Amino acid sequence: MKPSIILYKKLPDDLRSRLDEHFTVTEINNLNAETVAQHAEAFQQAEGILGSGGKVDGEFLKKAPKLRVASSVSVGYDNFDVDALNQRGVVLMHTPTVLTDTVADTMMALVLTAARRVVEVAERVKAGEWQGSIGADWFGVDVHHKKLGILGMGRIGLALAQRAHLGFNMPILYNARKQHSEAETRFDAQYCDLDTLLKESDFLCISLPLTDETHHLIGEAQLAKMKSSAILINAGRGPVVDEQALIAALKNGTIHAAGLDVFEVEPLPVSSELLTLPNVVALPHIGSATHETRYGMARDAVDNLIAALSGNVEKNCVNPQVLK
Ligand code: GLV
Ligand code: GLV
Repeated sequence: MKPSIILYKKLPDDLRSRLDEHFTVTEINNLNAETVAQHAEAFQQAEGILGSGGKVDGEFLKKAPKLRVASSVSVGYDNFDVDALNQRGVVLMHTPTVLTDTVADTMMALVLTAARRVVEVAERVKAGEWQGSIGADWFGVDVHHKKLGILGMGRIGLALAQRAHLGFNMPILYNARKQHSEAETRFDAQYCDLDTLLKESDFLCISLPLTDETHHLIGEAQLAKMKSSAILINAGRGPVVDEQALIAALKNGTIHAAGLDVFEVEPLPVSSELLTLPNVVALPHIGSATHETRYGMARDAVDNLIAALSGNVEKNCVNPQVLK
């Protein structure tokens, strides 16, 4: 008998067929308390789940007593309680490699867009404001040769360092839990403490996962240490930055601008003050959202589920130790 799984994400037809070959699939739209209650019997039987979003914690695991593998279509897994999964012996798979370059592209796009005010001036052109020669009120600031600070030197941080250093002649500073020799040898990245990173960066690019340690890592005190000309870019997880403190810093000139792909609450509420600030570029969490990369993530998540349910957790596994 094929193992039963729950799918909570729309997949391309070929990937859906691949799942059907291996599993009995129950497809639902989202993973939340209502859908879990509606499909209680399917969750009772499920040995695997695959999708993105939702919250997988101890409460959820009680509803899925046979669960062996959770396969997330994402690199970030802050919506999973890994301790609870470990206690229950559930393997967590994710897609950390396929999206690296795409997310780094998004971060570079935010750097350029915020610095050159691309969105703001393009809107002025569309509004018919380009009538004579443009004045300084249309100008931005340079990106090339400025200091790019990277907070969190994982795969994405490294790909951003490559773009910034090789493409834009930017000196790279970084802070991470540990030094990264490849970033240092290939892209001349210099390790420094967080205070130095805050004080010296022209662009502070945050590429950290959300954990207890990184929650509100950047707040009022940290923003106060940044240059008033600095631009903050966040494409990791929203809650790494204290959003109220960021709004205050952007309003009172503590920092110059921000380019954000992630927020404390997503979708960003229409009432958010961030949306009223001209020095904010806000994107709808599209770091990995290209046709090619979203396909690749879904494909990897399907492969990960098939591999892990047959005991293979060599690749893309967050907690391989649970099978030991
Ligand atoms: C997107 O934010 C991801 O974690 O893949
Ligand atoms: C994450 O990228 C870290 O090393 O802190």
